[in-house]
Amino acid sequence: MTSTTSTTTTLPSPPGHPVWGHLGRFAEDPVALLREGASLGPLFELRLPRRPAIVGTSPAWNRFVLRDLETFRSRGSLPSLVPHLAGGVILTDAPAHRSRRQQLDPPFRDIEGLRRRVRAAVDARVPSGDFEALGWSIETVKAMLNAAMFSGGFPAGLLDDYLRPLEQGVPSALIPRPLVRRAVRRELAVQLRARQDRTGPDGGSDLASALAHVPDAVEELRVGLAAGFDTTAHTLAWCLWYLGSHAAWQPVERRRAAVNEVLRLHPPGFLSSRKTAVTTAFEGVVIAQGTHVFTSPLLTNRLPELWDEPDRFDPGRFERGVRGWSYLPFSAGPRTCLGAHLARLLIDEALDAVLQEPLRAIDGDPSPHAGITIAPTGPLHLLRGHHPAAAPTSPSPPSPDPGVRP
Ligand code: HEM
Repeated sequence: MTSTTSTTTTLPSPPGHPVWGHLGRFAEDPVALLREGASLGPLFELRLPRRPAIVGTSPAWNRFVLRDLETFRSRGSLPSLVPHLAGGVILTDAPAHRSRRQQLDPPFRDIEGLRRRVRAAVDARVPSGDFEALGWSIETVKAMLNAAMFSGGFPAGLLDDYLRPLEQGVPSALIPRPLVRRAVRRELAVQLRARQDRTGPDGGSDLASALAHVPDAVEELRVGLAAGFDTTAHTLAWCLWYLGSHAAWQPVERRRAAVNEVLRLHPPGFLSSRKTAVTTAFEGVVIAQGTHVFTSPLLTNRLPELWDEPDRFDPGRFERGVRGWSYLPFSAGPRTCLGAHLARLLIDEALDAVLQEPLRAIDGDPSPHAGITIAPTGPLHLLRGHHPAAAPTSPSPPSPDPGVRP
């Protein structure tokens, strides 16, 4: 089984350019392209440069791809093209991936001690009155990550410089920036050394302290900062928008379901990308060595056969339970998001701080826009606090997502 061409010819494929295949459409509007592909069947082909690519949507496909790190490799997949993400555990393949995660998982799971400092970072910037939630979320997540990882001691200007291309999306985020990268690595080394010498701030109870003796922690923190930034910021912005549009879900005991539902509708990491190390087969379809293979939370999370009224914002569905391999905002399997617990902690604390006062969506453009991750297009104007002039008599809240029935 060495053929690379017979593999995908039987699969449906959206219309593409005769020469460039789907490259142009993928660069321009990957969400539309993926949704069109998914409408053709549970497995479809994309034509990307040099190699065919297969995208699958079913839970069985997700399980097939995401559990098997020997066949489905990270090196050579899409993150290799994104300088911010190309490194550390993200590009570590089996068998080394397992021991790497064994080193990294405990510090990223045992994070309750970070909550207080994260909350202080949000409390210092809680908005009042009218505010723009996308920009606020971006700046607040930077401050919260800085607090969690470095007790706020990472120079804010350098952090801004480093993360800016991720805010700008494609193509900016694809351009290597060796000078900034070197400066970030140098600063990370300084931060880690201070903690190794036990001279770190606050007795050393931040994430950098927990990683100080992990080999190559510099690179793990560098890619962790990038992987945790826009994903969390965009999720937070959407949470604020949906909660501002659906006040019934604002009470603390209902928020977890609302956050889950936001992540179902708008998973920022909308595509997990792998490359096959050997030829393999799935449900009779041969997949040649070197094929790009994708799972997509964006597509699986809205499959009508898995979710009633999939485009509808209905956090109540999480109270009724979710089937395995059907809900993948943080992916699943051995490569499941390293920072999922941290992301939830940051989002919980930010929402809790903001929702000490009522929140209301005013206007804006929440439609999804894809770059390296999916973001709300913005701006997102919200009102925080008791403002009688704007309260109950006003028209019904804006639709959270023009493509989504509220
Ligand atoms: C809402 C926020 C987040 C979302 C939606 C998210 C989503 C994801 C997804 C879907 C993957 C799997 C990608 C794949 O299968 O190729 C992933 C992996 C990863 N995430 Fe997150 N993430 C979030 C926050 C974070 C945070 C806060 C951090 C760290 C500070 C982080 C660090 C990582 C790392 C290092 C990996 C690679 C794990 C591996 O390859 O073993 N993420 N994330």
